[in-house]
Amino acid sequence: MCARSRPDSVGCMATSTGTSTALHQGHWWETTAPTGSRELVPSPAGPTDEPGPPPPLDGPGRWRQTVRLARDQGRVLFEGFRRHGDIYGITTVLEKRPLAITTHPDHVKSLFTAGPALAPSTAGQSQLRPIVGDSVLTVTGEPHRRKRKLLMPPFHGKAIARYQEQIEEATAREINSWRPGSRIRLADAAQKVTLDVIMSGVFGIDHRSGELEQLLRHRLRQLLALSVSPFARLSELVSMRRSEPVGLQKWGLAHLDRAVMALIGERRAKHVPGERHDILSLLLDTRDEDGQALSDGELRNELLTLVLAGHETTANSIGWTFERLVRHPESYGRLREETRGGDDEGYVEAVVHESMRSRPVVPLLGRRVMADWRFGDRVVPKGTRVLIGVLALHHRDDLYDDPFTFAPERFLGVKPGSTTWIPFGGGDRRCLGATLAMAEMHTMTREIARRTDLRAVSAAPEPPVHRNVTMIPGRGATVEITSVTS
Ligand code: HEM
Repeated sequence: MCARSRPDSVGCMATSTGTSTALHQGHWWETTAPTGSRELVPSPAGPTDEPGPPPPLDGPGRWRQTVRLARDQGRVLFEGFRRHGDIYGITTVLEKRPLAITTHPDHVKSLFTAGPALAPSTAGQSQLRPIVGDSVLTVTGEPHRRKRKLLMPPFHGKAIARYQEQIEEATAREINSWRPGSRIRLADAAQKVTLDVIMSGVFGIDHRSGELEQLLRHRLRQLLALSVSPFARLSELVSMRRSEPVGLQKWGLAHLDRAVMALIGERRAKHVPGERHDILSLLLDTRDEDGQALSDGELRNELLTLVLAGHETTANSIGWTFERLVRHPESYGRLREETRGGDDEGYVEAVVHESMRSRPVVPLLGRRVMADWRFGDRVVPKGTRVLIGVLALHHRDDLYDDPFTFAPERFLGVKPGSTTWIPFGGGDRRCLGATLAMAEMHTMTREIARRTDLRAVSAAPEPPVHRNVTMIPGRGATVEITSVTS
């Protein structure tokens, strides 16, 4: 069977030797015409002792590439892929040696399965490091393995059932507040739901909680609101490559930290083992191999990571889902019909998969190769930072027919492949909250489609904008509400 009808079949025998998608002129997100399909050409990858030529370098200069990488990753990815194919390099001010960018599933597989010693994550060098410090997201090697083991249980499939009621309640509360005739930024509306869900899971806080809890919620919202201002974008740039926050970010974080630390202190003082089930309470009971409890600082880093990694990503994914749906009446019509008829399971899931394929909120993943590494006929030297171009990989016409077309049907009855559909990354760094995120996406997509009718406020698709490591809808997925039912 060929790759296009089975997205995980990366080993499909190939007849074509081409390496570039039939790409379009203009912005990638405005492409509407079908762009065709091809067979995937396998590309061997992994550590090697044999020498080989380095990946071709894509222009322009260091500074321009750095700015483009921060502001217009789609352009860097699609243009590089069109010019050079599966693997190429760019020079930036982030590293002395060129970064390598790959979009081939065989390359991705080699990086995801290599293990932490050979291909560690580079999340520790991302803009999140000054904010969350050392946490499961930012450390590597043995400390990462230990932290991940500690945090896995509350995110396991069965544990997620506990959050389901909370997800449904928060979704219903939000939809009940919508008024026909008004316009909303759906990503912001979804963020209220995902923030409620994560605050409840992590701190056991709900919308009725006490004073310290409400203060923490408030401070977190303040910091998030601040993070979209132009000043914050400047601080983000200034904080890049530092391990401590500076400027506005430092000020906002100090405020938030006081609230987090006060809550941790109160919970520690009143803690009765086994009494509460939130993640903070579970971590208070945890001891390391030497019998030591986590310090307040360690708790703060892990909890803040979960809250920050766990709610904006999901909210913007919901935003993108409806940004796509309201511009694709056939898919939107079918979704509404099926959810209202009560027979929705397959199509809701297909819509979520297709939305995360066409608009992955994390468009780039980072790994560092700790050995010389073969990527097809090219070899990158040990120590190179390799970026996986999730966005471009999801738009390869040798993996997906007409990849620029929004078509949930392609996922009906088809399980997405672990190296061809990678919005949650993969390997030992795969998103810890993926099951929770899918439960939230599923419930919110179903309930919004079932209870409301939405309309696009402009025919033109929303351009993506880049914030920290995420790609979010440029107008927050603005829609007009035309009806709401109970
Ligand atoms: C649609 C929503 C989400 C998306 C698209 C997403 C995406 C990602 C991606 C791409 C990574 C990096 C994976 C890699 O490098 O291979 C990641 C890591 C992570 N995510 Fe998510 N995420 C989402 C929701 C969540 C939620 C709800 C939580 C938690 C409550 C969460 C917690 C984390 C954590 C802790 C990590 C670090 C894992 C590690 O390095 O071991 N994420 N996520």
